[in-house]
Amino acid sequence: MKINTLSDEYEEFEFMDHGRTAHRKRRKAAPDKQKTQPNHLTDIQHMDDGMTNWVPSYAASLDPRHHERWWVIESAGPFYRDQIITDLTHLVKGGKEANVYRCDAHPATGLEFIAAKLYRPRMLRHLKNDAVYKAGRQLRDDSGKQIKGRRVKLALRKKTTFGKSVDIQWWIGNEYRTQTLLYEVGADVPQPVAHQGNVILMAFIGNEYGPAPLLSEIRLEADEAHALFRRVMDNVALMLDHHLVHGDLSAYNILYWEGDITLIDFPQMVEARHNPHAFELLKRDITRVCDYFGRFGVTADPVDLTLDLWRPYMGRDW
Ligand SMILES: Nc1ncnc2c1ncn2[C@@H]1O[C@H](COP(=O)(O)OP(=O)(O)OP(=O)(O)O)[C@@H](O)[C@H]1O
Ligand SMILES: [Mg+2]
Repeated sequence: MKINTLSDEYEEFEFMDHGRTAHRKRRKAAPDKQKTQPNHLTDIQHMDDGMTNWVPSYAASLDPRHHERWWVIESAGPFYRDQIITDLTHLVKGGKEANVYRCDAHPATGLEFIAAKLYRPRMLRHLKNDAVYKAGRQLRDDSGKQIKGRRVKLALRKKTTFGKSVDIQWWIGNEYRTQTLLYEVGADVPQPVAHQGNVILMAFIGNEYGPAPLLSEIRLEADEAHALFRRVMDNVALMLDHHLVHGDLSAYNILYWEGDITLIDFPQMVEARHNPHAFELLKRDITRVCDYFGRFGVTADPVDLTLDLWRPYMGRDW
């Protein structure tokens, strides 16, 4: 599991966990002792109670036969056991590709709430124009290492079950890595917290009453619109500085909270150096942003703005 937010408390937990594993191994290797302590396995099971059988309160509210119940328990369980979240309480939004839930954060994370994005196994069927976004990308595994094996590449090309699972990991891992990079360079994105399997955890934007609204749901005064427009464009420029184009930017993927904006939703991000569609995607992102802010008095030419960013970028020494 990759974890971005580590505190002393968390490291201590990891340490204790390793201690426990070692303890189990030692006991296994000493059969004589087992005779004198016949109940140790039951003891360990008892110790794990509440961890292995954890049911988040949102799942507890669902019918036991509801598939979402098991999906949530299995997906969020590892983060509960690693003490990153203490509960998963609300469905923020259900979508075709993923559901987003609000979780109570473990104090060790330094956050109050965490957003958990759970991807559906069948997400790939819904990704629009998969090939456009993937063009020029190097295949990477869950840990970011380039995938080289012939067998894996073949499986991906032939879309075997194994190939599909590598593919899903690739998309999700890519979203997480991109978000981490952007957060580290100071972009307005939610702080990434952890990633494992089909789940990404990040800081929740909002409060106990609910998530931040999308920019598309907000009406802005002209002054604020101008300031936020500049802010969004600064983020677009910062991304391009790091060879990235969001690829699905619009008022539907920007949160508005306490006067600030936060960009979300990165699985379709493209690498500007390698993707032949990068310019078109950048232009589309900027056009959608201009369309939204245009409603509140911001006048800007999206093609000019795109070229203003793209020309110096292309003339740059890489
Ligand atoms: N960090 C967050 N804090 C608060 N709310 C969030 C966060 N991330 C996502 N959301 C909410 O969840 C919704 C879906 O998230 P996101 O856009 O990443 O997923 P998606 O599967 O692409 O959904 P959609 O198809 O609706 O765009 C967002 O529109 C937003 O309302
Ligand atoms: Mg979205």
